[in-house]
Amino acid sequence: MTDSFPTGSHDDVAASPAGRRPRVVLGVSGGIAAYKSCELLRRFTESGHDVTVVPTAAALEFVGAPTWAALSGKPVATDVWTDVHAVPHVQIGQHADLVVVAPATADLLAKAAHGLADDLLTNTLLTARCPVVFAPAMHTEMWEHPATVANVATLRARGIVVIEPDEGRLTGKDTGKGRLPDPAEILELAVDVLNRGGARPDLAGRRVVVSAGGTREYLDPVRYLGNRSSGLQGHALARTAAARGAEVTLIAANVTLPDPAGVKVIAVSTTAELRDAVVAATATADAVVMAAAPADFRPTTVSNDKIKKADDGSAPSIELVQNPDILKEISHDRARPDQVIVGFAAETGDATGSVRELALAKLARKGCDLLVVNDVSGGAVFGSPDNEAVILSTTGEAREVPRGSKASLAHAIWDQVLTRLG
Ligand code: CTP
Repeated sequence: MTDSFPTGSHDDVAASPAGRRPRVVLGVSGGIAAYKSCELLRRFTESGHDVTVVPTAAALEFVGAPTWAALSGKPVATDVWTDVHAVPHVQIGQHADLVVVAPATADLLAKAAHGLADDLLTNTLLTARCPVVFAPAMHTEMWEHPATVANVATLRARGIVVIEPDEGRLTGKDTGKGRLPDPAEILELAVDVLNRGGARPDLAGRRVVVSAGGTREYLDPVRYLGNRSSGLQGHALARTAAARGAEVTLIAANVTLPDPAGVKVIAVSTTAELRDAVVAATATADAVVMAAAPADFRPTTVSNDKIKKADDGSAPSIELVQNPDILKEISHDRARPDQVIVGFAAETGDATGSVRELALAKLARKGCDLLVVNDVSGGAVFGSPDNEAVILSTTGEAREVPRGSKASLAHAIWDQVLTRLG
């Protein structure tokens, strides 16, 4: 077993106060997605976590104990009757820094919601005092059943992060909501929860909308005007909001990154499509963060055929028309008076003012509540895993966020949004 999984771009694992590796319990319940948890386990261990796997008896029907033992590098306790002298049903939960259950079946969610403790995993869930993340996977009908809906609501109200399953192909030929998200993305979310050191999921019950990426304005079927936005900051915002318990819709313009776990993703391409998706999603949102870079202009006409090169060496001139300003529209025409709207401003200073002066003018012009200002002189931010910014507020505060991961800027933004939401 010498292959290694790339561990993605998540923040470095925070060492515990004692300097030891963070202790993660990976609970596995009995669904076919148990096989995907092998990859999750490997990613946890490869990124420096000490993982104890606790599979249920049903999970062992799908993936056997030797696989979990080999991948975690330690024996796997499969029932409460093994090593009774070490009191595993209490010890494992008590010593955990994080419990992640993936996949979490409808049965496991029901047991956890009602405090049943008839096996090692459910005992562990009752004794754990650390953050807990459930990644459910099941058929759509089971996920949508009122019993499961009520159990998920109970768990969330208790401060547990229950991530939304993905939509797509399920076991067999049917498709729908119920797939286990990409293990790499579950890891990213779990590490985020772990790094918050036991803080409660303070966006639970909130609906947030994030836009990400850069729009494309087509000249013809193959050419477009675009920009350098990678979507990394928008993805970090979506992922961190999900890790803090929010219901998240990510509207992604031409982003090639994997979908963050627990996030509903709507793919768009042009500014007009982005505008329609943002306006629709914003209707019920508590907060909206416009991290996307919409093209300000589009060609007046889009040629149905590929534009041909002229023999005489001349180039066509392209007439442009202005696109709608989405941030301005949703800020001035608020779907709800108490909604918090956040804009981004990628600025370079010029003869008319400094970065800060231009940003303050933009905050007033756009009508949003907060403006996250990046100084992009030299193109420093695009595609980089790091970011630094100032968060300007209509109430006059300017919060400097020092250079750090895009996730840490995202958390600083959600902190400011929460202050506003009250
Ligand atoms: N934005 C938007 N719709 C547009 C252009 C921008 O909603 N058509 C949003 C961006 O998502 C971002 C904010 O407005 O949150 C500021 O983007 P920026 O490009 O800096 O602003 P512009 O309005 O394009 O201003 P400038 O004249 O400086 O280019």
